[in-house]
Amino acid sequence: MRVTVIGSGEMGRGIALVFAQYGNDVILEDSIPAALERGSKYIKENLEKMVEKSIIKQEEKEKILGKIAYSSNFEDSAKSADLVVEAVPEVVELKQEIFSKLDKICKPDSILATNTSNIKISEITKNLSRKERVLGMHFFNPANRMKLVEIIRSEATSDANFEKAVKIGESIGKVPVRVLKDSPGFIVNRINAPDMLFFCSVIDKGIEKPEELDSYAKGQGLPMGPYELMDFVGLDTVVHSLDYYAVTISPEYNKCTSLRTLVKEGKLGKKSGKGFYDWSSGKASIPKTEPSEKVTIMDIFAIEINEAVKLIEEEVALPDEIENAVKLGLNRPFGPISVAKSMTNAEVKKMLEKLSESYNIEVFKPAASIVNGKLKEVLSTKAFALKEGAKPIARTDEKKEKIETSYSTLIVEKRDKHVARILLNRPRHNLINSDLLNDLENAIKEVWSDNEIRVLLITGKGETFSAGAELSQFIPGAFDFVEYSRKGERIFKLLQEIPKVVIAEIKGYALGGGFEMSLSADIRVSTPDAQMGLPEVTLGLIPAWSGSQRLARLIGNSRAQYMILTGKRITGEEAKNFGIVSEIFPKESIDEGALEMAETISMSTSPIAASLAKRLINRGADVAYDSGLEMEAMAAGILYGTEDMKEGISALLQKRKPSYQGK
Ligand SMILES: NC(=O)c1ccc[n+]([C@@H]2O[C@H](COP(=O)([O-])OP(=O)(O)OC[C@H]3O[C@@H](n4cnc5c(N)ncnc54)[C@H](O)[C@@H]3O)[C@@H](O)[C@H]2O)c1
Repeated sequence: MRVTVIGSGEMGRGIALVFAQYGNDVILEDSIPAALERGSKYIKENLEKMVEKSIIKQEEKEKILGKIAYSSNFEDSAKSADLVVEAVPEVVELKQEIFSKLDKICKPDSILATNTSNIKISEITKNLSRKERVLGMHFFNPANRMKLVEIIRSEATSDANFEKAVKIGESIGKVPVRVLKDSPGFIVNRINAPDMLFFCSVIDKGIEKPEELDSYAKGQGLPMGPYELMDFVGLDTVVHSLDYYAVTISPEYNKCTSLRTLVKEGKLGKKSGKGFYDWSSGKASIPKTEPSEKVTIMDIFAIEINEAVKLIEEEVALPDEIENAVKLGLNRPFGPISVAKSMTNAEVKKMLEKLSESYNIEVFKPAASIVNGKLKEVLSTKAFALKEGAKPIARTDEKKEKIETSYSTLIVEKRDKHVARILLNRPRHNLINSDLLNDLENAIKEVWSDNEIRVLLITGKGETFSAGAELSQFIPGAFDFVEYSRKGERIFKLLQEIPKVVIAEIKGYALGGGFEMSLSADIRVSTPDAQMGLPEVTLGLIPAWSGSQRLARLIGNSRAQYMILTGKRITGEEAKNFGIVSEIFPKESIDEGALEMAETISMSTSPIAASLAKRLINRGADVAYDSGLEMEAMAAGILYGTEDMKEGISALLQKRKPSYQGK
């Protein structure tokens, strides 16, 4: 693809580099030749560092450098581009002028993207004739390293171009998040906007000094405190954004007196050597102080949750996308959605009311859904129903034999009448988080209530089962962790309780929580080289989604102690020797092999007999031998009256395959 980047500043140079790294032909254009020289130097230095660190080879460096041309000729640079990314300063008139020129000179099928941080796309495209090809591609600094790119559509952007831009984002190794509505600040900067207003108000009101709050924030694990970060970004840039939000979101963003005074005095932060702090040494010299706790991390979370809820209410972005964007854009282990899920509606509402009252700021007032007690409901939004371009959550394709229900973290497929398959479907080896547990619970119930389904197969979408629990999931305290463990135990136990045969198909990794999930199945099959294990003890934890109990019952105390106390992984072959896995399938054919096994069981066994047998085995292990025998006799008695038993014996005598009805 031919890509032209307009503006060789802080952002443009990184954007040009990442496109070239992924094999695109790039022209970096800037009206100022010195800016091109700086851009070229930055690109060379970055590639050299990558060679030093053995990330790329010298030949690759040369190849990437050969992919980038530098130019000050706007028209020549843009006319044959398939994609133009504009990265000139955040001035609406300048961007309008650039886009009106691009509109005239670019090929009709080229996509024109702006890297604006805040400005609505529709403002930039105001006077254009072909608005359907213009959209936002908002990269984060440094663009060649940060994984996030927000893809923003205006009302005029066509579906095809929007989806094409998402694919382009993926093709250069980024995680694109969809911003479905043109709204100031999009996702990450919008979530950050009331934070800035809050930090300004804290110092305007003399509640805390910058160093007190920064010292507290660093103690909470943030790499930089909020004032140090504003200094780093540039206080003029911050004020510029606040001015825009004052016009587009709320006039309250005009507050922030102390910050505006600093800018008027020319104290812009790092770039001018002085801001909230002195930067003359190149680093912020922050006065030593005790961290203050007048402002807490929960105040900041409450404000961010509120803004996230507003974004969902306004149908700008879906909760999962917001969570992902904040995590990746702000380098955080979790975003506002997962924090909100760990709180009650009443808690969030109370905190926001208090903040709004004590700072006298309407922006902090709880959003409508929080006022109406609908926080949990809004957080579980899976699609903006029936809007143009929105995808339905559940999809039933009558023409296909396979029926699918998509949850946000997994897919349930009804493969044929009697077999359902759950595919875990999360980034990074299907890590398990609270959302996945919730979806799994619902999916198991969905399968449970379908009387036709006899066998449930669970595996991961792609090459792996699950590498375990997502350790960055936000869990506020010890008691919450107890509850989180109970939640996993309870949901995995459903696999043991469901009156259907459950098969776990293990490939790639089944570690920690992923392995525990597979242990809750009735039968496990795997590839020879699959990696299984419970590494929790090596992380200062224990297997707490039933692994500490279930493994010993399955393979005996001695082997379970060995696996849990060493945290060592075993292969599929070793797991077969341990009695964990019943059958091994080659890597290339395990999906088909496991499905075939599920289909065979579903056709050759009576569903009533299989579900009673499963229950007997599981329950019998926990009761005295004689009680187990009694349960066995009763179950046999129940089966004796069934049509299935008659069919089974008739089929045997008539030398034909049985046809069970589950009656
Ligand atoms: N800096 C960040 O952290 C960051 C992050 C995300 C998005 N953005 C956005 O990216 C855009 C660029 O920001 P930046 O920080 O790279 O700015 P910058 O000031 O570092 O670079 C802008 C470049 O554009 C060039 N330029 C100006 N007018 C031009 C024209 N008419 N034709 C060609 N080149 C022209 C300038 O010479 C300069 O080299 C802005 O919209 C900004 O809001 C910035």
